[in-house]
Amino acid sequence: MIRICFVCLGNICRSPMAEFIFKNMIKMENLENKISVESRGTSDEELGNPVHPGTIRELKLHHIPYQNRTAINLKKDDYQKFDYFIGMESYNCQIMRQLFLGNSELKIHRLLDFSPLKKDIADPWYTSNFSLTYQEIEMGCKYFLEYLIKKENL
Ligand code: 4NP
Repeated sequence: MIRICFVCLGNICRSPMAEFIFKNMIKMENLENKISVESRGTSDEELGNPVHPGTIRELKLHHIPYQNRTAINLKKDDYQKFDYFIGMESYNCQIMRQLFLGNSELKIHRLLDFSPLKKDIADPWYTSNFSLTYQEIEMGCKYFLEYLIKKENL
């Protein structure tokens, strides 16, 4: 099983959106028995809070199945629990490198670095533009899944 963890700051907007979009993609590709998907936040600011209504709205709009969940924060011992940590922006990756230390570089990636765009995912907490965030995350997830299929011989 290849274990994926999407990471943002609060774990209420972007990383849960990525988690549900990616889960849906791997279901479509019949890879559910090969890839597992979770998400975490680097901050404990939103700990225990539900997924943001803006994220739920986009998931519903695009018919992406989701479950009600509450924010979980990333911990040092999560390093051994996952194979890929996919940050939404460079700051998330920077915090992860500080938390995990050592040669954690190998497991940490920024989502849109798998795409030609190579930029941060806009944070809808500040932009209020959940539709743009959805488009960017969906595109990043497509490229990331292509990468995984090749890299892991799926
Ligand atoms: P997220 O968005 O990292 O995509 O979940 C945010 C949620 C909460 C805050 C910032 C970003 N906050 O400052 O509380």
